[in-house]
Amino acid sequence: MMTISLSNELVINVKVIDEQHQHLIDLVNEFYQSSTSDGIGNACYEFGDDILNYMKAHFACEEDLMRKHRYDQLVHHEEEHDKLLYTSILMLAFPDEEENTPAQFFMLFKDWIENHIKTAGKPLGAYLNEMGMA
Ligand SMILES: [Fe+2]
Repeated sequence: MMTISLSNELVINVKVIDEQHQHLIDLVNEFYQSSTSDGIGNACYEFGDDILNYMKAHFACEEDLMRKHRYDQLVHHEEEHDKLLYTSILMLAFPDEEENTPAQFFMLFKDWIENHIKTAGKPLGAYLNEMGMA
């Protein structure tokens, strides 16, 4: 079974954000596991809203922190959030056996979060650490 884990290289050393990343990853892992046992319709019904709502809340939290601390990569970082959110809404609302499967969403999310944390999350974490957040 494929799972996503928050490995050391994905920890950004800001507690509130690391905990939210872990929770979001847990939700997507549960979603994928449930899709293989309960079918894609049920998995999207059961987890779709939770994933989207949590994603929105988490992105809003990061964006508030960036605004509050006047982070100069805010606009670019927000664009990456918006792209994932838009794609996720489409994929979770219209699941399909062949062209839009939970496995495809899972892989897309896995690639996105690993890449996003490494290229955008880590620099943000370092910046917030400098601002005194840990
Ligand atoms: Fe982010």
